[in-house]
Amino acid sequence: MVTKTEPESSDFDRDTALKAFDDTKAGVKGLVDAGIAKIPPIFLHSRPNAASVQSTPGHTESELPVIPTVDLQGVDGDPNLRRRVIWQVNDACRRWGFFQVINHGIPTTLLNKMMEGVKGFHELETEVKKGFYTRDYSKTLTYNCNFDFYQSPAVNWRDTVSCVMAPRPPNPKELPQVCGETMVDYSTQVMLLARRLFVLLSEALGLNPSYLNDIGCSEGLMFFGHYYPACPEPDLTMGISSHSDSSFLTVLLQDQIGGLQVQCDNHWVDVEPNTSALVINVGDLLQNLWTCVQLISNDEFKSSQHRVLTKFIGPRVSVACFLRQQLPPENSRVYGPVKELVSEENPPVFRKTAVKEFVKYYYAKGLNGISALEHFRL
Ligand code: OGA
Ligand code: NI
Repeated sequence: MVTKTEPESSDFDRDTALKAFDDTKAGVKGLVDAGIAKIPPIFLHSRPNAASVQSTPGHTESELPVIPTVDLQGVDGDPNLRRRVIWQVNDACRRWGFFQVINHGIPTTLLNKMMEGVKGFHELETEVKKGFYTRDYSKTLTYNCNFDFYQSPAVNWRDTVSCVMAPRPPNPKELPQVCGETMVDYSTQVMLLARRLFVLLSEALGLNPSYLNDIGCSEGLMFFGHYYPACPEPDLTMGISSHSDSSFLTVLLQDQIGGLQVQCDNHWVDVEPNTSALVINVGDLLQNLWTCVQLISNDEFKSSQHRVLTKFIGPRVSVACFLRQQLPPENSRVYGPVKELVSEENPPVFRKTAVKEFVKYYYAKGLNGISALEHFRL
């Protein structure tokens, strides 16, 4: 849980400090480039010590639970293998809301190129990068420090470049040369993978295999290229504070630095870096589709809380692709519990929402440790 931490001095004006930092348009990377040894007060979080939350009664260090890895090799050919994979995906979504996939079909060379592209963007000359700095999400490409910079109780130690890549991909010429073409190629591949995953997820729910694709879950893709600079005081801040995603599904590529953690049964578990794997997690919009199921089995496909810790080492680079509609007209689509899954004994838990209404609420709230879905609870 993130709480607002005010420094001692009574004349600290947080709003002025926020504005002054935002006006530098140089992001967190600008602070690190300037060689700061202490983090500015706007970045101070109060959070439990990262090490202590790991050791939970009942789990010794050697038997900490591990996020499952699902191998997609041959899944479209062998029916027995396919059934096993669907079982694994189903189990992972209920227990964790997270899993990693290997043999996902996206070439390692493209994964590496994507990471280099995002790193390259964030390491452009500051003067060049400033030209992209904006909080106006009607722009093709936005680069800034925290989408919820002015809303959240404490700023996260992270800069992000983002862009809507589907259903209407931008012309690579409108994107920075250092990463534009790769963003288009990579997003195309992520869309293909996502469509395959939504088939497996539909089957896991006992629905028609094309169900989730047919209702538009794989229609839109929003790209986020995150950059978490090395931090001089990593215990005092966060890379991303605890949140669940505003997507149906998120496909995440992370480098080898580590720091991503998922909350499970009240403890935080590392999502171990595996540079040939992709991390898949269930977002709030998808959880809403089948939350009614929890009343039958007392569990559900979870959009789990997760976070990224800061480290002395860095930068850490990650690419999060949110499967979700962002722009009109697609973002007017309304989602709520799947009618095939709702019954008198299993009534819906959350109300229906248009994607744009959900996202608007999510963005206005910022990452404050409380799930945006709560606002939609019936
Ligand atoms: C996100 C997210 C994790 C990461 O973008 O929502 O949780 O490792 N990212 O960057
Ligand atoms: Ni997330």
